[in-house]
Amino acid sequence: MVIFAKYGSLVSALIMLIFVASAEAQRGARCQLQPLGPGKDDTDQVEAAIAKCGHFGTTSFASGSYNITRKMMWNLKSSKVDLRGFLTYPPWIDYWKNATNTYRVVFIQSQASWFVVTGTDFEIDAHNVGGIQGNGQTWWSYLMTHTRTDGDGRPISLTVWNATRGIIRNFRIESPPFWSNAVAESKDITYDGMFVNATNTDPLYAGRNAVFNTDGIDTYRSDRITMLNWDVTCGDDCLAFKGNSTNLVARNIICRGGNGITFGSLGQYANMSDHVYNVEIENLRTIRLDPKIQPNMASGVYFKTWSATVNGSPPNMGGGGGGFVNNVTAKNVFVDRAATPLHLFQTNLAQPGDAPSKLKFSNLRFINWRGSGNNSRIIDLECSPAAGCTNISFKNFKVLPPVGQAPRYICQNVSGITGLSAPCNATGEP
Ligand SMILES: *[C@@H]1O[C@H](CO)[C@@H](O)[C@H](O)[C@H]1NC(C)=O
Ligand SMILES: *[C@@H]1O[C@H](CO)[C@@H](O)[C@H](O)[C@H]1NC(C)=O
Ligand SMILES: *[C@@H]1O[C@H](CO)[C@@H](O)[C@H](O)[C@H]1NC(C)=O
Ligand SMILES: *[C@@H]1O[C@H](CO)[C@@H](O)[C@H](O)[C@H]1NC(C)=O
Ligand SMILES: *[C@@H]1O[C@H](CO)[C@@H](O)[C@H](O)[C@H]1NC(C)=O
Ligand SMILES: *[C@@H]1O[C@H](CO)[C@@H](O)[C@H](O)[C@H]1NC(C)=O
Ligand SMILES: *[C@@H]1O[C@H](CO)[C@@H](O)[C@H](O)[C@H]1NC(C)=O
Ligand SMILES: *[C@@H]1O[C@H](CO)[C@@H](O)[C@H](O)[C@H]1NC(C)=O
Ligand SMILES: *[C@@H]1O[C@H](CO)[C@@H](O)[C@H](O)[C@H]1NC(C)=O
Ligand SMILES: *[C@@H]1O[C@H](CO)[C@@H](O)[C@H](O)[C@H]1NC(C)=O
Ligand SMILES: *[C@@H]1O[C@H](CO)[C@@H](O)[C@H](O)[C@H]1NC(C)=O
Repeated sequence: MVIFAKYGSLVSALIMLIFVASAEAQRGARCQLQPLGPGKDDTDQVEAAIAKCGHFGTTSFASGSYNITRKMMWNLKSSKVDLRGFLTYPPWIDYWKNATNTYRVVFIQSQASWFVVTGTDFEIDAHNVGGIQGNGQTWWSYLMTHTRTDGDGRPISLTVWNATRGIIRNFRIESPPFWSNAVAESKDITYDGMFVNATNTDPLYAGRNAVFNTDGIDTYRSDRITMLNWDVTCGDDCLAFKGNSTNLVARNIICRGGNGITFGSLGQYANMSDHVYNVEIENLRTIRLDPKIQPNMASGVYFKTWSATVNGSPPNMGGGGGGFVNNVTAKNVFVDRAATPLHLFQTNLAQPGDAPSKLKFSNLRFINWRGSGNNSRIIDLECSPAAGCTNISFKNFKVLPPVGQAPRYICQNVSGITGLSAPCNATGEP
């Protein structure tokens, strides 16, 4: 008893020590930044603050514009960042497109990154008044008359890579030149409050989609990624779940223009398979914009894979990869005059005569869908004959074609379809 009591007090003394030490570390490092002002370069002071306070400390950015002129990686450990201003990237197209001037940590399509966050147990809160200013208009106008390919160095604005247990809160990405966000090789990351706006204002390109590849986010090789309260205006995928994205939640998502939420593209790399499973999408609202501003509004949710034939090689072309998508629920979805509200195809950039994809879809559930298509083709599931889709269920699916038209539900190579009020067959003729 006595011995136990002795050990007991020793243990509690040790616990006290650890508590005091960690509390001191938390309090220890506090960094506060102000923008240096027009014509000045803020990159050095930002890097110095993160070097000092990025482990067990707090870094606070006052409002204003921080001029970031080179690639930057924050390694955060048990750390908090309050970002009340904007990391602002000058539109130096030739400089950024030079591969030495960005990070290449997102393996898929060899994409380039401006700003990479890595580490463990961090929170970045931009309080809805800060984030990244991408100065995308200069890029968009330039790219309307220059070629674009994947992996050509157009930078992702915010990349979370090799990170565990991170929260990004109330963050704004204004005018991203390319993908706004990517999360790769990470787990337990929550984005709660993300605002993205890629809107062309160059009158020369009115009525056209000038904001190519301005995805809201691409997820890759990541587990337990939660996306809450997103508002994305873009010209491409609102959210894109790429290979080995697992246990995802996307809730309260607004997609203004663009293509909707995609699974894909999958199967681009012939030497790897893409496994995507346990995905829950809840409360998704798409909004078709004025076509003079953004003509695209392709889908609510769609799925795309490459064929089984290799056509060229990544980053830009590819195909031949296998894998599967299993256990997906998309519920409470509103689509606004989408071109194909629910779409699945396995012929991304395919050539005639290509071998059919072996990537298989199963257990997809579509619950409480409302809204409209802009033509009669409401559902179009064109599954590969080499794999087929199994167990596709619908409940309370009420997406309507334009007034006076009958809905077409197209299903090819689908088995085990339930819950639709009309047949879904190869031609979709009602
Ligand atoms: C950003 O810093 C560079 C120098 O690295 C400077 O030439 C440029 O004018 C600054 N930009 C702004 C908007 O202050
Ligand atoms: C890219 O930048 C590096 C380092 O500044 C330079 O040596 C190289 O010539 C640049 N490449 C091109 C294609 O401009
Ligand atoms: C990834 O993060 C872990 C833990 O933070 C670190 O130990 C490892 O070195 C990082 N990997 C790379 C390639 O930087
Ligand atoms: C996005 O930016 C455009 C152009 O500045 C603006 O008209 C539009 O209202 C913005 N969208 C949102 C949702 O704030
Ligand atoms: C697969 O091929 C790509 C090139 O397309 C290569 O970069 C990658 O390392 C390969 N991966 C594996 C697992 O072999
Ligand atoms: C996905 O995970 C599977 C199983 O672990 C692995 O075989 C495959 O190479 C991974 N694919 C990618 C794109 O990393
Ligand atoms: C399907 O995914 C959900 C999360 O979206 C999970 O709760 C459930 O256990 C998964 N079902 C199976 C059979 O793995
Ligand atoms: C439907 O929308 C798509 C893309 O937004 C557009 O290309 C197509 O012309 C529209 N179709 C009709 C019948 O309006
Ligand atoms: C199809 O769904 C049912 C009911 O959810 C489940 O029991 C069955 O295992 C599923 N089949 C496949 C092939 O996943
Ligand atoms: C797949 O669907 C196509 C088009 O409906 C059909 O011609 C083909 O026979 C189907 N293949 C299999 C294996 O069911
Ligand atoms: C599709 O279903 C409709 C309605 O049952 C039927 O009239 C049509 O012939 C079917 N088409 C095919 C190709 O089975």
